[in-house]
Amino acid sequence: MQIKTDFLVIGSGIAGLSFALKAAQKGKVILITKSNQDESNTKYAQGGIAAVWHDGDTVEKHVQDTLIAGAGLCDEKIVRMVVTEGTARVQELIELGTKFDKNQNGEYDLAKEGGHSENRILHHKDITGYEIERALLNKINKDPNITVYDHYYAIDIITQHHLGELVTSKTPGITCFGAYILNTRNGHIDTVLSKITIMATGGAGNVYATTTNPTIATGDGIAMVYRAKGHIKDMEFVQFHPTSLYKPEEHPSFLISEAMRGFGAVLKNQNGEEFMGRYDSRGSLAPRDIVARAIDNEMKISGEDFVYLDCRHLDRKGFIEHFPNIYNKCINLGIDPFIKMIPVVPAQHYLCGGIIIDEFGRSTIDQLYAIGECACSGLHGANRLASNSLLEALVFSHRAFEHATNTFTKISLKENIPNWNAEGTEHPEEMILITQSKKEVQQIMSNYVGIVRSELRLKRAFDRLEILYKENETLYDKTILSQELGELRNIICVSYLIIKHAMKRKESVGLHYMAKKFDAKPLKTT
Ligand code: FAD
Ligand code: SIN
Repeated sequence: MQIKTDFLVIGSGIAGLSFALKAAQKGKVILITKSNQDESNTKYAQGGIAAVWHDGDTVEKHVQDTLIAGAGLCDEKIVRMVVTEGTARVQELIELGTKFDKNQNGEYDLAKEGGHSENRILHHKDITGYEIERALLNKINKDPNITVYDHYYAIDIITQHHLGELVTSKTPGITCFGAYILNTRNGHIDTVLSKITIMATGGAGNVYATTTNPTIATGDGIAMVYRAKGHIKDMEFVQFHPTSLYKPEEHPSFLISEAMRGFGAVLKNQNGEEFMGRYDSRGSLAPRDIVARAIDNEMKISGEDFVYLDCRHLDRKGFIEHFPNIYNKCINLGIDPFIKMIPVVPAQHYLCGGIIIDEFGRSTIDQLYAIGECACSGLHGANRLASNSLLEALVFSHRAFEHATNTFTKISLKENIPNWNAEGTEHPEEMILITQSKKEVQQIMSNYVGIVRSELRLKRAFDRLEILYKENETLYDKTILSQELGELRNIICVSYLIIKHAMKRKESVGLHYMAKKFDAKPLKTT
């Protein structure tokens, strides 16, 4: 089947939904998403969204905090733009019906997280993302100009390559004409022709064995754009959240929000020592890269699998009001945070790199924009400041909307696009090969391309991944496409990009830390 639309949006997180709602005022929108409508990284966001809100805070302070966290690699122009425009975008989110918590004076209750010099995180208890998805989907489902296709998996974007032309990363004017999408309920593959395509596919946490990201986060958008010869950047900057709940059998890992440290919770090692002071003067509220590395180091010194977050001294009522979700999770596991310390461990959480975009969200492929976590705008540099990603998604979805709606009326849908060619493919002989390869990739990435890297480890990861890549390409060519097979291909592609970019960057900066020799003495990071 061929489907025609003005705007094709791939992804139903904060970025895709925000764009779709706005673009629907100007044209027809098709929004596809590979799982349930609300399934996304956005849904699990806990801490909140950073914005300059109270009188004592300033754009300059938020800009400086972002630049410091980014370890000198942020694009300052983009940082200023996002922070300056961010407050108005958050205001729009409120007008759409998102409810952020207020204090007894009726003012927004602004929380603090690592790397922030002010309280500026708007939140809805500790389930901010759930509330944002609720508010956006409520509007989306009432909009007659938006059709949502859930359980549709985007396989690849369509370019001149599909018309038989040779396309390389140097070809000028590569253009996106739409995408091939797989209906995962019946296995049919449809062709969507669009004037504008928006990649809003989120993160890639499942490249690693332990991640806070839900299973949908397989880096599909980045892999699709890379295959289409678009440009990708900064993939070595993988953010590990310092505090996921230590429960090895649970996937994804449950997040223990950084806002708890903003509320006064303190990291301690297994001897009960507040170790962060040895690493950074900001203690438990240092930027994430520093805290995650310090925990990693403490675990190497002690040989233990986790450290603790101590909440026992905190105000019980205020804590339960702010963090009911985390409190209930702990209680259900038999950990009363006012009696016992919470065992925590770093887990993959966010990808700073991705599809290169300009200030309007345009990728290097014409008629293709990328917004949200799959994009690399220059905001985060070498390390994202906490709660800046929801903000980035809002600002860039708005900018992409303004730019795309000014140009789409001049674009005609491309004719003669062939349908998906499944000739010569058969059902997989053994599905276990796909699931097993996925686990192998995740182990390679967690073992050799984690918080601390070395040339030797990266080379080992590269060599092992190459074997899996070759095996999987052979399987892909002869197998009827399934979501699992496509995702495996994307996970391998994104892992390759992370390793390749990590190998190119010789110096340690931000989230990319290269150890020359294994050294478990406390790292001096400030
Ligand atoms: P997502 O919300 O991940 O949405 C991506 C969408 O694309 C999904 O609907 C997915 O199903 C769909 N998709 C992907 N591939 C395909 C495909 N091939 N075909 C069709 N559909 C596809 N950030 C903050 O700023 N503050 C926080 O407090 C915060 N807390 C977090 C807590 C957790 C546990 C996690 C995991 C992340 C958190 N983050 C937080 C990060 C933030 O949530 C994400 O960066 C942000 O929500 C990404 O939004 P997005 O719209 O780009 O992508
Ligand atoms: C958290 O609540 O700790 C997550 C915040 C973020 O990832 O920005």
